[in-house]
Amino acid sequence: MTKFFKSFLCAIICSFIALGTVHAKPLIVGVDANFRPFEFKNEKGEFTGFDVQLFDAIAKDLGLDYKWQTMDFNGIIPALQSNSIDAAIAGITIKSSREEVVDFSYPYYDAGLVILVREDNDDIKTIDDLKDKKVATKLATTSVDFLKSQNITDVKLFPNTDNLFMELLTGGVDAVFFDSPPLMYYSQNQGKGKVKVVGPLYQGQSYGIAFPQGSELREKFTITILKFKEDGTYAKLYEKWFGAPSK
Ligand code: ARG
Repeated sequence: MTKFFKSFLCAIICSFIALGTVHAKPLIVGVDANFRPFEFKNEKGEFTGFDVQLFDAIAKDLGLDYKWQTMDFNGIIPALQSNSIDAAIAGITIKSSREEVVDFSYPYYDAGLVILVREDNDDIKTIDDLKDKKVATKLATTSVDFLKSQNITDVKLFPNTDNLFMELLTGGVDAVFFDSPPLMYYSQNQGKGKVKVVGPLYQGQSYGIAFPQGSELREKFTITILKFKEDGTYAKLYEKWFGAPSK
């Protein structure tokens, strides 16, 4: 091979490698677009929320290009398992059965589970009062497991959060049992004057960003979450969406 030909070949190979690095394929990020105030479409049709903006800030910090892939919540863990998405953020509670099949970042948000009833309801105050009542919750979530553990059996499951509220307002169920942030948010916004949150917070829920097992992204995201907790980026975002300083 002549010297000229060698360097010509090298130039071609090197530019392919360089192209590959600069134009790396965007990450596909799974999200359920119906979980206010974490991920939803606002009045202008823009996709926004605490999770959406947190993920965006982390990705920018890490110099990662990404694309959202919206799906029902119950499809997220299977999609990670089959590697059809590279990451997911959707208020996903870190729990041991999920940790067996996917990897989670350091927890980025702490919540609980609560009861939501119609404004005029006076007989439901705690989880025990749900025993002989009709309850709605979201498919494949920690609330399904918790209700089962409390022997609450008359449970209607929906893939979509808006359906839970609709079912409660139209009298299809007596209560909704689900994560505290979306229920509080609904009671203070679209559901104001129509519904109320009652009783204590049940079963702490720590949310993590999830990745396929063995993904190198887990550590990178964890480091950035910890950095954002130190440098005020997290506090700013938390105040924007929850109106109170983060703990
Ligand atoms: N935190 C609960 C869970 O992980 C519910 C999450 C629902 N999230 C959503 N985007 N719909 O099971």
